[in-house]
Amino acid sequence: MKNSYTGREQYYGDYLALDKILDAQFPESDAKGVEAHDEMLFIIIHQAYELWFKQISHDMVSIIDIFKNDTINDNSEAMQVVTHRLGRVVEIWKLLVAQVDILDTMTPMDFLDFRELLTPASGFQSYQFRLLETKLGLKMEHRYEQKYYQKQLREEHIHGIEDSEKEPSFFELLDAWLSRMPFWDEQKYWSDFKVPEVAKAGLHPFWATYRHTFHAGLQGSEVEEISMNAFDEMFFTSAERPVRLSAEASQAALFINLYREYPMLQQPYRLLSLVLELDQLMATWRYKHIIMVRRMIGMRAGTGGSSGAKYLQGAMEKHQIFAEIAGLATYLMPRTKLPKLTAALAKDLSFHI
Ligand code: HEM
Repeated sequence: MKNSYTGREQYYGDYLALDKILDAQFPESDAKGVEAHDEMLFIIIHQAYELWFKQISHDMVSIIDIFKNDTINDNSEAMQVVTHRLGRVVEIWKLLVAQVDILDTMTPMDFLDFRELLTPASGFQSYQFRLLETKLGLKMEHRYEQKYYQKQLREEHIHGIEDSEKEPSFFELLDAWLSRMPFWDEQKYWSDFKVPEVAKAGLHPFWATYRHTFHAGLQGSEVEEISMNAFDEMFFTSAERPVRLSAEASQAALFINLYREYPMLQQPYRLLSLVLELDQLMATWRYKHIIMVRRMIGMRAGTGGSSGAKYLQGAMEKHQIFAEIAGLATYLMPRTKLPKLTAALAKDLSFHI
């Protein structure tokens, strides 16, 4: 029967192009007449990852497109779409983390049956994974062991990554969105806010107060470890920052965490939580991948020619994209000590009836 919209006779296998997908597994061991039962699993697992990377990229591109707008109303449909799709990306990553367990049913000896036939191919060359890292905000200059990229990736893929880096990343757009947070207007929101006399002069009333109260609450070795300088670097220094997150974005992200119970901050808080969850899940995947690699090949070099598990450990430590947002937890303080917001601001942070 023909579909009344497309005019075509839709059929499950045709619609899903199953003839292509199910005819795309070519174990090298078959071609070479070598017995290696688990190569099929190895291929299918990687293909499944790549399909999910495709879906994640599809969702991330749409999220980035929304964030490219100069203004986004936090109560708008666009913002719901962003959190909804980011929530989906997070769920997919949970699946990708769990999927490692399936490949782990292959033993190191099973892997050795066909490992040599793969060389020098490696997951390192996953173009979709690299583009995803770039879209999220990882720059080539911040990558661990950059030399491997020139050696291992095809030229067209290097160019693709370079082109993708020229586009604003999710990290940069998130930073810009946070920096636009409209609640610092001193006349409108902070004119009757009480600043302690001992607080540093010349700062915004909220930040002068918060800076003072936060440091008064530090104990023992923390007093030296979390210096006023570190605080100032995180929240006030705009030029030559040791961190990538801007001072304005750091302020907004902390404020959202502190006052997230206010209705207007709930959606931004959900977004920040999802971003951190995504970062954690990617780090968890990296960690499980390393454990699996150690079990499969021990200290041997990777098929792609890197130092194997040692390289992966370095990449895991260096490639977390939103670590600075997670690190803001250093600067939280208990609710009982939080500066009370002015009535004007509390009103604008609530839904208007
Ligand atoms: C037997 C299973 C696996 C082993 C032994 C293994 C081994 C390795 C090794 C040693 C590297 C470092 C680069 C190199 O020298 O080759 C690597 C990188 C990588 N592998 Fe795997 N891998 C396995 C399965 C997977 C799977 C299922 C995926 C899913 C897509 C994957 C994705 C990646 C990615 C994305 C990288 C680059 C990571 C980075 O640079 O941070 N690997 N793998």
